[in-house]
Amino acid sequence: MSVKLGRNDPCWCKSGKKYKACHQAFDERIALAAAQGHIVPNHSIIKNAEQIAGIKESCKINIAVLDYIEEHIHEGMNTAEIDKIVYDLTTKMGGIPAPLHYQGYPFSVCTSVNEQVCHGFPSEDVILKSGDIVNVDVSTILNGYFSDSSRMFCIGEVSPEKQRLVNVTKECVELGLKEVKPWGFLGDMGQAVHDHAFANGYTVVREIGGHGVGLEFHEDPWVGYNSRRGEEMLLVPGMIFTIEPMVNMGKVDIYIDDENDWEVYTADGKPSAQWEIMVLVTEDGHEVLCW
Ligand code: MF3
Ligand code: CO
Repeated sequence: MSVKLGRNDPCWCKSGKKYKACHQAFDERIALAAAQGHIVPNHSIIKNAEQIAGIKESCKINIAVLDYIEEHIHEGMNTAEIDKIVYDLTTKMGGIPAPLHYQGYPFSVCTSVNEQVCHGFPSEDVILKSGDIVNVDVSTILNGYFSDSSRMFCIGEVSPEKQRLVNVTKECVELGLKEVKPWGFLGDMGQAVHDHAFANGYTVVREIGGHGVGLEFHEDPWVGYNSRRGEEMLLVPGMIFTIEPMVNMGKVDIYIDDENDWEVYTADGKPSAQWEIMVLVTEDGHEVLCW
């Protein structure tokens, strides 16, 4: 139960401005969409200027860590070495790796190779070899603010089939991103991602999606890609979420390793790729915060 703000009360966003001069029209527009039956965001997931500034600082570490990995990842390296790099660099820069101990997750990063869809455990036994495609998924906490993004890396000589999967998955994210604008819908993005993957003969994992992020690791909304234009949550300025489709070369089905309850694989053993970006909805479009 929330008390309705008066026009001259201070705005809920803590800008210090009067409600009527700040978010009143914004709230009315959201209320109208809700009345029309749309899913609308709660104030708790709309970030103010101070929060956005803090989240951007966290993103700087996330980007620096991924840039470092991009320069140093190589054939013959094991994925436990990547985990150590992520831990060392993140903490050196004053951050905390968000995955570490998150719901019992035992490492600082996820490294998912070939048919691993996501949440791959770094291991001394997983040695990167020529032809592998690997997703490195990095997330950082800085001063309580969360960032999250992932990239694909191609090791040595990768087959044209795998290279195409990696490229098309990146294109999916780029095409989805183009659809992110205020007063649009999350489904505009989801459909763009899905349609491009489908047109290329691929499938998009249904069970695992992106998420709101910033004040927590995973916030509302849940971000799927089997959605349609004009559906799912209304997008408004100040929302931050990830776009991170997992695109399978073969069938859509996945399974979770029942020994550790984390690692996700394609059911048919064919490769899967993922890129993850973190995007802010702005007054006139969007801004990519992390990639
Ligand atoms: N970084 C992942 C994401 O994109 C989260 C992984 S959960 C973890 O949402 F515990 F494995 F880190
Ligand atoms: Co994420």
